[in-house]
Amino acid sequence: MAGRFIVFEGIDGAGKSTLIDEVSKKLESAGIRTVVTAEPTEGPIGMLIRSGAVKCISPNAEALLFTADRACHTSEIVGWMEEGTTVLCDRYYASTIAYQSAGLDGTVSGKEWLMDINRPVTVEPDTTILLDIDPEAGMRRVGERGARSKYEVTEYLGRVRSNYLEIAEEKGFRIIDASRPKDEVLRETMKILGE
Ligand code: TMP
Repeated sequence: MAGRFIVFEGIDGAGKSTLIDEVSKKLESAGIRTVVTAEPTEGPIGMLIRSGAVKCISPNAEALLFTADRACHTSEIVGWMEEGTTVLCDRYYASTIAYQSAGLDGTVSGKEWLMDINRPVTVEPDTTILLDIDPEAGMRRVGERGARSKYEVTEYLGRVRSNYLEIAEEKGFRIIDASRPKDEVLRETMKILGE
């Protein structure tokens, strides 16, 4: 039987990576083989994005890079699913729609265009879980963690959050209040996945 494709979305500091690790442990101990993966990937295009070497490119070019990285990633994801492995993915196409249409420097990429370029290079996840959190709380967590990407700006993340909520409504994502204690968030996630 083909594996499931489960995506976790949310602004920086929402707690996706910790949650994904916990979910993976629980599924593995229930005998379900999982792979944990993330975008930007660790492939050549993902590493280029992560290197910061593309700081000065236009937002549309940046959106194309995230999407190109995803095109390669999708082939891997489909391969894992065909092997019967459940894929837990930290960010997928909704990240590009939410972030690149939020206009970090005042320039926005249109949502329609972002959807159009993503459609041919993505597969629809079985479930997408949106970890929803207020950007102030997210930033506090990011602060504790130390690292700051250029996207970690409260006001900008507020717009990203609104975009996420809009996409979630359109696409039927499951929304979890990520400001709650971690064990509650995990419990709710496992309940959704059990369905
Ligand atoms: P990460 O912190 O989850 O590793 O992601 C790195 C940053 O990249 C994060 O601030 C969100 C941003 N990002 C986009 O702007 N667009 C995308 O399509 C993806 C996948 C990430």
